[in-house]
Amino acid sequence: MRVGVLTGGGDCPGLNAVIRAVVRKAKRTYGDTVLGFKDGWRGLIDDDYRELTVTDLRGTLPRGGTILGTSRVTPFRVEGGQEAVMKTFTAHALDAVIAIGGEGTLSVANEFAKLGMPTIGVPKTIDNDVGLTEMTFGFDTALTIATEAIDRLHTTAESHDRIMVVEVMGRHVGHIATWAGIAGGATLTLIPEEPFDISDVCEALVRRHDAGRYASIVVVAEGAKPKPDTMTIPEDQYDDFGHIRLGGISTLVADEIESRTGYETRVTILGHVQRGGSPTANDRVLSTRFGIAAIDAVHDEAWGQMVALQKGRIVQVPLAEAVKELKFVDPQLWATAKNFFA
Ligand code: F6P
Repeated sequence: MRVGVLTGGGDCPGLNAVIRAVVRKAKRTYGDTVLGFKDGWRGLIDDDYRELTVTDLRGTLPRGGTILGTSRVTPFRVEGGQEAVMKTFTAHALDAVIAIGGEGTLSVANEFAKLGMPTIGVPKTIDNDVGLTEMTFGFDTALTIATEAIDRLHTTAESHDRIMVVEVMGRHVGHIATWAGIAGGATLTLIPEEPFDISDVCEALVRRHDAGRYASIVVVAEGAKPKPDTMTIPEDQYDDFGHIRLGGISTLVADEIESRTGYETRVTILGHVQRGGSPTANDRVLSTRFGIAAIDAVHDEAWGQMVALQKGRIVQVPLAEAVKELKFVDPQLWATAKNFFA
């Protein structure tokens, strides 16, 4: 078979491990030709590709980022984009496209699948918010980085008796914040799923101080939102996928905490550090499993399906169902986190 592969959306550790697994099994087991398209869907619009061999992927398993490059270009927002993708697909006599991405990339894959293009999805994102899969690769690495950062902030917070506000990624969901908050022993965690009241946040911190404890760590997901009319926040901005662009709520939260409580407060925004560098062992294994399952799905002709992790096993689920809604933080896990709040 002739198979196209692309990586779209924000990069994350483990992308190369997926590509490596796809290429390895495609070549060694099936004798396929694999074309790697550059920068996500843009590569298919512009017919920008290179053939991938087993040798090309040597040494990439532990490497972060993506050797194919990525972008948030979406063919349906580019004039003639849809037709250009179809033309490239036909010109290379492709039998399938494997789209590795988050909700934006996979939604585009789903649209092309509906248009009759044989497409398979692989869920990636540090946010862990893709539906119907218990885990996306990249999440474990981001969580590990965030937890290590929180551990380090504890000691400096204690030395100075300060409040440390740590902002982690998570536009619409608080998976990284909730998990890192539990793992790092956060005093409070703010997530998009549960709008916060800054007065409650400050009261909790004061109570903790009055009880003789100090050095609080407040973990804030970048998409955390105050309850209506409790705090002023600037207007939202959007990227090419129409996704909200965030980063900065922690500064506003910290300013409010300092002015309302008088406690010295500092901000750490972890940002893209969470997406960079080498994938954890867990992410390498999950990426490898997803890659193998994706090329197997191509040979099953499971068009319009996404590979997913369910009950510890790799399964196929309909892309259309997976992109229908984001996967939010499990209320049971959130309840566990809350037991440790100030
Ligand atoms: O890929 C998901 C993500 O890392 C989000 O957590 C974050 O909001 C966004 O990407 C950042 O995007 P960009 O790399 O375009 O700044």
